[in-house]
Amino acid sequence: MHSSAQRDFIVAHHHQRILVVIGSHHQAARENSDPAFQDAHIYVHLKAVYILTLKKGGGKGHDRRIGAAQKLFHEIGSKGKAPALSSLASGKVMDQVMTRKPHEMLAATLSQELDAVNVLIRTRMASQHAPRIPEVTAHLVEAGGKRLRPMLTLAAARMCGYEGDHHLKLAATVEFIHTATLLHDDVVDESAQRRGRPTANLLWDNKSSVLVGDYLFARSFQLMVETGSLRVLDILANASATIAEGEVLQMTAASNLKTGEDIYLQVVRGKTAALFSAATEVGGVIAGASEAQVKALFDYGDALGIAFQIADDLLDYQGDSKATGKNVGDDFRERKLTLPVIKAVAQATDEERAFWTRTIEKGKQEDDDLEQALALMAKYGTLEATREDANAWAAKAKAALDALPDHEIRSMLRDLADYVVSRLN
Ligand code: IPE
Ligand code: IPE
Ligand code: MG
Ligand code: MG
Repeated sequence: MHSSAQRDFIVAHHHQRILVVIGSHHQAARENSDPAFQDAHIYVHLKAVYILTLKKGGGKGHDRRIGAAQKLFHEIGSKGKAPALSSLASGKVMDQVMTRKPHEMLAATLSQELDAVNVLIRTRMASQHAPRIPEVTAHLVEAGGKRLRPMLTLAAARMCGYEGDHHLKLAATVEFIHTATLLHDDVVDESAQRRGRPTANLLWDNKSSVLVGDYLFARSFQLMVETGSLRVLDILANASATIAEGEVLQMTAASNLKTGEDIYLQVVRGKTAALFSAATEVGGVIAGASEAQVKALFDYGDALGIAFQIADDLLDYQGDSKATGKNVGDDFRERKLTLPVIKAVAQATDEERAFWTRTIEKGKQEDDDLEQALALMAKYGTLEATREDANAWAAKAKAALDALPDHEIRSMLRDLADYVVSRLN
């Protein structure tokens, strides 16, 4: 927690949410705050304040108990408060990022191009005719995100000596596809939090998320067409289909105990790695890299994406919810079979199998079931085994880089592969 009495507010990190109490001294402010807000999560996003109240008696995850969202004070504090509130963002960044992580090194190296990509994203996410579109897109896009995928495109193009500017459009295309899938994914997963903010489906509704997601997909196609490269179109169109296929496969396979590591890999490769590999591949293609280099870029993105998603699934059981912004055990509560559970199911005794059948297949979960699930994973060491798998994919990603030109960006991509498996969010 840090405070800024001179600005008349305090900020508390509360499960990645920013709880803001407006008052002169934080303790006094908390004590004096309206009791109706004491169980509420209050988000500040630019000049808007969101107050999410908790619905009592919600059974599932913590997030599920968030029942209502209200957007208040749209132009809050036009006199004096606005600068203080917007300075929260930088305070938070300073607080959390003491040393530069590999993706931040890449962002710094590619900063000019990344700025241009961000301008392109902002320009193209707008719509003249439907105001709901910029509302929803701005909410998600301005929340940031690591911009990993567009950076991969820029990095690949730069590493292969590209001097044109089509890679900027491709990087924006890739982030648009990513943003569209996040909008859709949060509807499918009924998620309440994304990028430390309430999800669009929570703040608006499912219809808005689905339709704005579709709009972003369509915008991404417009952008990639502008590069005039059929090969690039082919790669990104295929990736879009593969992502959707991965999400649908997951939907039907994830609660089925017969789902083994092969299907899991197919899901992860589809829903996550396909965009990573397309991002790196198109960077090489637009730069006119050799076929061997394009293949190496694809292999790097593919292995990196798989390592990234396995790590994400591991964080669901091992992560610190303050860092990840997600609750421990969400995948379990959502009855989603991920690698640590798949490995435990494979070794289960009859009694343990009955436990997995009840909790995952039938979804009849009781209070201590998450603890029991974690105990079974500990019994077979499946979290460690999953981490080893993630490390193996990261090693594969690094090995793929050997075929690429010796370049400062190449060593950053190497570090990035290590980082995605050790990351905290
Ligand atoms: C989130 O991806 C979706 C997954 C594949 C797990 P990121 O963690 O890259 O999301 P942002 O863009 O940084 O928010
Ligand atoms: C993220 O997948 C979305 C896609 C990769 C399409 P998940 O549902 O596993 O990840 P989070 O937890 O929502 O980011
Ligand atoms: Mg999700
Ligand atoms: Mg999902």
